[in-house]
Amino acid sequence: GDDSTVCITIVGASGDLAKKKIFPALFALYYEDCLPEHFTIFGYARSKMTDAELRDMVSRTLTCRIDKRENCGEKMDQFLKRCFYHSGNYDSEENFTQLDGKLKEHEILAGRISNRLFYLSIPPNIFVDAVKCASRSASSANGWTRVIFEKPFGRDSDSSAALTRSLKQYLEEDQIFRIDHYLGKELVENLSVLRFSNLIFEPLWSRKYIRNVQLIFSEDFGTEGRGGYFDHYGIIRDIMQNHLLQILALFAMETPVSLDAEDIRNEKVKVLRSMRPIHVDDVVVGQYKGHTRGGQSYPGYTDDKTVPEDSLTPTFAAAALFIDNARWDGVPFLMKAGKALHDRRAEIRVQFRHVPGNLYNRNSGTDADRATNELVIRVQPDEAIYLKINNKVPGLGMRLDRSNLNLLYKARYAKEIPDAYERLVLDAIEGERRLFIRSDELDAAWSLFTPVLKEIEEKKVIPEYYPYGSRGPVGAHYLAARHNVKWGDVG
Ligand code: BG6
Repeated sequence: GDDSTVCITIVGASGDLAKKKIFPALFALYYEDCLPEHFTIFGYARSKMTDAELRDMVSRTLTCRIDKRENCGEKMDQFLKRCFYHSGNYDSEENFTQLDGKLKEHEILAGRISNRLFYLSIPPNIFVDAVKCASRSASSANGWTRVIFEKPFGRDSDSSAALTRSLKQYLEEDQIFRIDHYLGKELVENLSVLRFSNLIFEPLWSRKYIRNVQLIFSEDFGTEGRGGYFDHYGIIRDIMQNHLLQILALFAMETPVSLDAEDIRNEKVKVLRSMRPIHVDDVVVGQYKGHTRGGQSYPGYTDDKTVPEDSLTPTFAAAALFIDNARWDGVPFLMKAGKALHDRRAEIRVQFRHVPGNLYNRNSGTDADRATNELVIRVQPDEAIYLKINNKVPGLGMRLDRSNLNLLYKARYAKEIPDAYERLVLDAIEGERRLFIRSDELDAAWSLFTPVLKEIEEKKVIPEYYPYGSRGPVGAHYLAARHNVKWGDVG
């Protein structure tokens, strides 16, 4: 509100995430008048930089997705005037005390309750040091202090629990905002609206009518430049344990008591804790190989200088998961995630059961699967929700085809969809925790994946190689077939 001021400090201000996502998100919020009236932004990093240099750096990365509108340039100047820089080490209480002094100058000018938000955009091995210094030396004196974290939150159950324990020496759980940026995506947030405010979906949302659910993530580029980070984690930790599993939880949870953050997260935790341990045979791993096509050469994963030549780290994985509860008993939830594939997409595909005694489909045998209804929620790109139905081809004969009831966002809504980070940063400022990961959720997510990750690593499972730009390992199809599933995104 009007009686408070907020200082937002981006720790790791010269990094990629800060430049590509955080500053642009803050600017978009400012442009839309969503930030509190009294706010100040500080960049904090090791390199020496003046305020002017920071502003110059930031101005070059502000994409201004609203640049079609008139006063964008003017707004940008006003925004940049609110940005400052402080150079310091991430483990120096002294440097954070200096930052505290600078923050106070702004707060005293505003003369109000002063809240502080720290956004840690730094590697995980320095999370705890930075939190220790920030909380001891640069906490708010009379308002709240909150810290936003980005994954990785550990790399298995033990390391994640250890990280949580260390952070809790300096912060209360309600000060910790763990981001999973997929939760900030428009169509992921819409999942609950789709389910709980439309009569025609929720009653079908169970084993009774749903045959299988597919969660698909693919990127048409490799780990370029991020090999060092990636090799320590792999695609299962990078995408499945968090982004896809979060979508699964929202998709499959029971109706929450209310839209309150705790009520929603309680339901998500229940789903995660109802999941059957993942069997190693229900996971397929792959890694992309370089090749040359049409004179153009594509690098393999291990061609990256920061990746060991003999790395077995998966850049692709497919897995079959099950939720052992009354609603979902026996329904396969198939996940597929990969880098360097033929396209970029993230989507949820829901395949419904066959129509019993279908009048129109009595002799078609193998085509029966293809004729079932399928609901597709395309998270990106080109956001859409569409439902595949069987329809009579107009004319005198009786021939059916498959058509789509199609809600294409760009055709329906004129306004551009905000970036996930805009929503998440705004929620953190407003103290809305619905889209952040609670520690028990995080524990449950690691409990599910840790045993199978350990097994894959101990057995040194050799990934199935696939060419850069292909559709990924054929093993994903065998895995699906074993559960009577056909991937919906193929063919
Ligand atoms: C990140 C992963 O969490 O998500 C990256 O670490 C991945 O490997 C990215 O590229 C994908 O996010 P988006 O929003 O571009 O789909």
